[in-house]
Amino acid sequence: MIQLIRGFKDILPGEVELWQHIEKTAATLFEEFGFSEIRIPIMEKTELFARSIGEDTDIVEKEMYTFPDRKGDLLTLRPEATASVVRAYIQHRLYAQDPVRKFYTIGPMFRRERPQKGRYRQFYQINAEIFGVASPLVDAELIFLLVTLCERLKVTDVAAHINSLGCPACRPDFKQALSVFLAGKTALLCSDCDRRRDRNPLRVLDCKVPACREAMIDAPSLHDYLCAACRAHFETVKATLDRLGVAYRVDKRLVRGLDYYTRTTFEIQTGALGAQSAVAGGGRYDGLVQALGGPDQPAIGFAIGFDRLVEIVGLNPADLVRPPDLFMAALGEKSQQMAFDWMCALGRQGVRAEIDYGDRSLKSQMKRADKLSARYVLIIGEQEAAQGKATLRNMATRDQLEIPLERLVEAVRETIQP
Ligand code: HAM
Repeated sequence: MIQLIRGFKDILPGEVELWQHIEKTAATLFEEFGFSEIRIPIMEKTELFARSIGEDTDIVEKEMYTFPDRKGDLLTLRPEATASVVRAYIQHRLYAQDPVRKFYTIGPMFRRERPQKGRYRQFYQINAEIFGVASPLVDAELIFLLVTLCERLKVTDVAAHINSLGCPACRPDFKQALSVFLAGKTALLCSDCDRRRDRNPLRVLDCKVPACREAMIDAPSLHDYLCAACRAHFETVKATLDRLGVAYRVDKRLVRGLDYYTRTTFEIQTGALGAQSAVAGGGRYDGLVQALGGPDQPAIGFAIGFDRLVEIVGLNPADLVRPPDLFMAALGEKSQQMAFDWMCALGRQGVRAEIDYGDRSLKSQMKRADKLSARYVLIIGEQEAAQGKATLRNMATRDQLEIPLERLVEAVRETIQP
């Protein structure tokens, strides 16, 4: 039997209701905050991701699903959505009327990582991106949005972590200082960090290997190198979060795994998912729009790991399943045919009705109605059909009602959806 690809998964009925609920809750919240949905393709030219995320990142170096198409063009299944949203913003001149735009997008991403709890090769993200606003107010707004979404979804055990990564004016000095520091630690670092040391020294800061953590204890701090503008920006983000009553922790090691970030970065972290603690991550990427050939517009956004969010929401998918409004237990060919026609007519009017399709005993049909948790059951046997009426039973109260066949659809609808 052919099985799923490793790291991929099916989202089956019984859990998909939770996904639908989260999706609706997020879309409603985004729309309340002035975001519009944007849908972007699942594949792009490889170059788009290589240039945006950065050639020296783990994602681009070893995790992308990249292949030549039949004409030899290199294509990649998207490992994230930000690069594509930026491409669309530039390509369709979405900045022309008003450079300030707020977008959200929800869909699958692909990274060839080692699968484990909370980490998949096809996973889903809920993304939000804001273009055209340099003010630190939007940094706080996005963190506020994430926290509010967690509240609406009854997610507890989460904390917002924030940091500033500086800008092209101040980060090079820090990188330089960090490289010098790391040169004295080579013997202590893991092989990945030893490799990253020259090309991407910032990544060493958030390595989870204990020996690297130990070696980095007295590493220089980025915050000592921030320029006055970056410092002021970060102070306003923090003051705004304080005003909004959003709890956060400043985490100087939060450097994120993508190269496009400037200034504010943030994550929502949880203790409930073991090693995969980041439920959402994001930050500013003020230089990316221009670097990809667009106008000089600042931008900021985040992505929520949908799969991880599903695992920590305090909701029971069973409570979100809509049981049938009505099950029709029909006996005999004529009754079964009528029940089928009524099911179609009721469905057209928004009543979720079910029939048995087969020709089974009343007892087994009633058993099935119970199993489906149908709210009402309509019983129509040969005798009832001959007398021109059927019995409608409320399964919670056990009350019964006789319904004349000639106006059955209307009468059932009135009783079920008063
Ligand atoms: P990211 O940190 O790479 O950022 O991913 C965001 C979130 O996606 C993570 O916090 C995690 O919850 C989830 N995630 C990542 N990889 C996996 C995986 N293999 N399995 C399950 N969940 C995963 C970005 O992607 C940026 N584009 C975020 C952003 C938007 N920055 C600005 N705008």
